Amino acid sequence: MHTSAVIIDCDPGVDDGVALLLAFAASDVLKLRGITTVAGNVAATLTARNTCLIREIAAREDVPVYTGCVQPMQRKPVEAGHFHGESGLGDLPIRTPRKGPEALHAVEFLIRELTTAPAASISLVITGPMTNVATAIQRRPEVLRGVREFAIMGGARSAGGNITPSAEYNIYADPHAAQVVFNAGPPVYAFGLDATHQVRATPARTAALAALDTPAAGTARDLLEFANALPANGPREQGSPLHDPCPIAWLIEPSLFEFRRCHVDVETESALTAGHTAVEFRSRADRAQNVQWATRANGDGVFALLTRLLAQSAKA
Ligand code: RIB
Ligand code: CA
Repeated sequence: MHTSAVIIDCDPGVDDGVALLLAFAASDVLKLRGITTVAGNVAATLTARNTCLIREIAAREDVPVYTGCVQPMQRKPVEAGHFHGESGLGDLPIRTPRKGPEALHAVEFLIRELTTAPAASISLVITGPMTNVATAIQRRPEVLRGVREFAIMGGARSAGGNITPSAEYNIYADPHAAQVVFNAGPPVYAFGLDATHQVRATPARTAALAALDTPAAGTARDLLEFANALPANGPREQGSPLHDPCPIAWLIEPSLFEFRRCHVDVETESALTAGHTAVEFRSRADRAQNVQWATRANGDGVFALLTRLLAQSAKA
């Protein structure tokens, strides 16, 4: 069985919460070095608290959490509370977690971990604005030596945008950071809306989670049902798209996704199209094709994996 050393950088966030529950349940395959959190869907203090809360529910307080950047590299913060609720975790009961984040800043953790890890040994999953990772790269470019690949939820091509007509939220929230990561050099596996819209939390799928008797499965079901109840996510029977668990599912079961090699540039300046991902499938001498763009996702397979692993997770 292939095991990966993994760092997850996230902004919980309803779907980040489900992604974390999946990753915490996959302890046989994913060796989690740490979770770094960033301002995004909600403020940095809340994404850190939410991560510690999900970690407690998953009974994985062996994994350290590090609080990160409070605002994007250049743009003003743009939150997405309307999709994630005021707390960032939908209508989940909120309490102060037993164990909080470490004192070390997330960027310093990324620098320490990636500059001391064996070469190309760490899979870096990013499911929020890429501010922490881009800041670490700019502060200490040698962090790239430790990166095996970036697996990011972000961007849109044929699916169009979800925060503006042409931009997906994670890229829009910090386009300068995204441009740094896409063009840093290590392979990027990009799970944009083109793929994540093929993975829907239909009522039948959330019912399968509800039938399990583990805190993680019940929490995942509650988070997904909150998203399904939002009119902005479309008709309930269609199910809301499951964005952030996609890169985690890919790490565990790569065959669930198909990709096309490409180069990606990010619009950072235009008022109209900031955050747009220009996905170029045509090979060009002056453009490294270092990005694998997810074009197909096996929605049934992703949910079967999520249900199987959450069924095995710690009982109450
Ligand atoms: O566009 C979807 C992305 O934006 C997800 O990561 C979700 O959590 C929000 O951050
Ligand atoms: Ca997110």
